[in-house]
Amino acid sequence: MLSSKAGCNSHGEDSSYFLGWQLYDNNPFHGVVNPTGIIQMGLAENQLSFDLVESWLRKNPDAMGLKKDGESVFRELALFQDYHGLPAFKNELVEYIAKIRGNKVTFDPNNLVLAAGATSANETLIFCLVDPGQAILLPTPYYPGFNRDLKWRTGVEIVPVHCWSSNGFRITMSALEDAYQSAQTLNLKVKGVLITNPSNPLGTTMTREELNHLITFAIAKNIHIISDEVFAGTVFDSPRFISIMEAATDRSLENENPDLWNRIHIVYSLSKDLGLPGFRVGMIYSNNETVVSAATRMSSFGLVSSQTQYLLSNMLANKKFTSKYMKENQKRLKRKREMLVSGLRTSGMECLKSNAGLFCWVDMRHLLSSNTFETETRLWKTILCEVGLNMTAGESCHCSEPGWFRVCFANMSQATLQIAMRRLRDFAERSSCDGRIGNKISSQQQNMSSLRRKLRSNWVHKLSSSECDEQHR
Ligand SMILES: Cc1ncc(COP(=O)(O)O)c(C=O)c1O
Repeated sequence: MLSSKAGCNSHGEDSSYFLGWQLYDNNPFHGVVNPTGIIQMGLAENQLSFDLVESWLRKNPDAMGLKKDGESVFRELALFQDYHGLPAFKNELVEYIAKIRGNKVTFDPNNLVLAAGATSANETLIFCLVDPGQAILLPTPYYPGFNRDLKWRTGVEIVPVHCWSSNGFRITMSALEDAYQSAQTLNLKVKGVLITNPSNPLGTTMTREELNHLITFAIAKNIHIISDEVFAGTVFDSPRFISIMEAATDRSLENENPDLWNRIHIVYSLSKDLGLPGFRVGMIYSNNETVVSAATRMSSFGLVSSQTQYLLSNMLANKKFTSKYMKENQKRLKRKREMLVSGLRTSGMECLKSNAGLFCWVDMRHLLSSNTFETETRLWKTILCEVGLNMTAGESCHCSEPGWFRVCFANMSQATLQIAMRRLRDFAERSSCDGRIGNKISSQQQNMSSLRRKLRSNWVHKLSSSECDEQHR
């Protein structure tokens, strides 16, 4: 019934990352209604500063009411269909993205293409730059949605750049070279390297040294650099954030290597920094006119509604509000992260030192009975079904080493986080009595079976059945 594209499995959604969400949906925690339910710690959503946005909305009813100086602009917005976007919104957006990058570089609204979130922006950019069957290099661990966003519809291949805990998962020249060589061995033409800075799932910003390696590497191989900077405004601690555009400007690439300057592109959205994933506001920023015009044409498939653009151009124009929001949001993220880190420490778990993001990258290698991804999956399932916490296993992030988990902290209240930490502490105490838990056949089997019956989609059903079968063996 389906086309081969729609029916094929390369959507990347058949990982434990998406399965965890489904199981959470069947039994979500609620302090009063469902206190034994699953707590969602696998969702990188920022709910910490909604009150600030809501307070701005209350004070600015005209923006929500589609009015300007008291007069309705409804008809104008209802008819607006230009895929270039509202000029007023693009002007505000470039000022905002410069501000969250410390005004170290300026951005030109003519180089900006709007898209329905970073998901759409990433796919559009890949469509514009890479042919089916060609490859893009991607440092590990990476955002679990990338296989779907970059590969599925474009037919592009991802070649991992393996990064390791021994140097804090930093990108090195030899890791980049190794990935390039493996692409060649596979007969894949490499068109670019895509980085996430700040990193999801690591929660770290890239060092100037790493950015310089990337620039040098992209010059040598004649490839593109795509920098997904959706977490740029979440940097709550030093070192400060350095955008690829700043690193390129500091090396005077515009004059000294215009070829590479024209191959540098940024992806950004308001989903994380402003906590508005439902508004679907994303963008591509490129130094390359040809890419901008191709991406603008392609953006017809994922435009941002003019109503949303109107509302947000008013909000971003209020510089006092954006300054206050950024500062307060970062302060709240830092505080929440500290709560998580100290809660995890009480359970004997350490995190990678981080300074950004809505999550921590947690080391649980000591809980594995063997250094394999199978054992990691068993641990993930135990934490999900016995402890009631949905975390993201490192394997879903294509981590090269088993035993690391991404744990989100910005999508829940302080009270919920405390309950999560209590559950984890109890679990850690039980596990230290039982020995390592990786091999333990646990009582979660029954929970999984009943949950499985309720699962909606076919692939989830298939995946969870095979997990349960495996436990029966
Ligand atoms: C690195 C990265 N890129 C893109 C996205 C997608 O963002 P959006 O909601 O703006 O589509 C996410 C979402 O988690 C992400 O972490």
